[in-house]
Amino acid sequence: MTSNEAELHQLEEAWADALADWAVPERYLAQVSTSPFELSPSSFRPDTARLRTPTLSWLAEELARLPEGERTLLDVGSGAGGTSLMLWPTAELITAVDQSEQMLAAVRDNAAELGIPLAALKTVNSRWPSPDLQSASVVVCANVLYNVPAPVAFLRALIDSASHAVVVEVTERHPHFGVNPLWLRFHGYRRPTQPSAEAVGAMLRLLGYEPQVARWERRAADPDDPEEVGRLARRACIPEERWEEVGAYLRAEPLQPTGVMAFRVQLS
Ligand SMILES: C[S@@+](CC[C@H](N)C(=O)[O-])C[C@H]1O[C@@H](n2cnc3c(N)ncnc32)[C@H](O)[C@@H]1O
Repeated sequence: MTSNEAELHQLEEAWADALADWAVPERYLAQVSTSPFELSPSSFRPDTARLRTPTLSWLAEELARLPEGERTLLDVGSGAGGTSLMLWPTAELITAVDQSEQMLAAVRDNAAELGIPLAALKTVNSRWPSPDLQSASVVVCANVLYNVPAPVAFLRALIDSASHAVVVEVTERHPHFGVNPLWLRFHGYRRPTQPSAEAVGAMLRLLGYEPQVARWERRAADPDDPEEVGRLARRACIPEERWEEVGAYLRAEPLQPTGVMAFRVQLS
């Protein structure tokens, strides 16, 4: 094993161990009827605000650099298409891969709403990396890596599937990190803080790439919006009868904005 491989292996083990710590103890799960990790397609809808993020600017830039006929985009862990659909028609063909058929159905509905023709969209129900890897000129993977306990093979497959560029977006900390104060206040339970997006940058460098890095923030939830309060409360296993109390707490102690990082790897 080379020293890079040994370091990658160590980073990956630390990543997997840290992710395992985010499991929620049964005593809290028993207090609520929905899983705190449930993902709703409506949270990942295409949204014009995303067009202003470095991820979408980079993707648009990379696609525009390619000759017509080669502007293909692969979106791995597409959710409801929030990252890729807004890039049509710059992206002439979008391939959305997701392990959830419910998310892919939402991709097709959202694409129809945006007027994207059937010929410009392919949806593939598969767990990444799968033996039948899809490929494209540009590959994006946004907000997926904290679901992935073996990120090295996952990242390698993203890079192997792109001919031109790869963009990976992740929150600086685990997507549930932001509600740690709710866990402490409502359950007296201290949640983990690791892993962090810095490890993703380190893995890409150990794989032999020097990614361009961008950082920005997503605004914190609005304590006066019951839907947003409910989403946070669900993540912290707080039963519905206490959601008003959650809103009051958040008005008094606003949560921090979420730090986000993106990494761009240029291949050609
Ligand atoms: C948090 S959502 C992000 C969706 C979208 N990329 C976005 O940023 O709006 C994560 C998505 O990744 C999918 N996912 C997680 N692990 C996956 C894997 N190994 N292979 C394929 N899809 C995966 C989930 O089903 C979910 O739709």
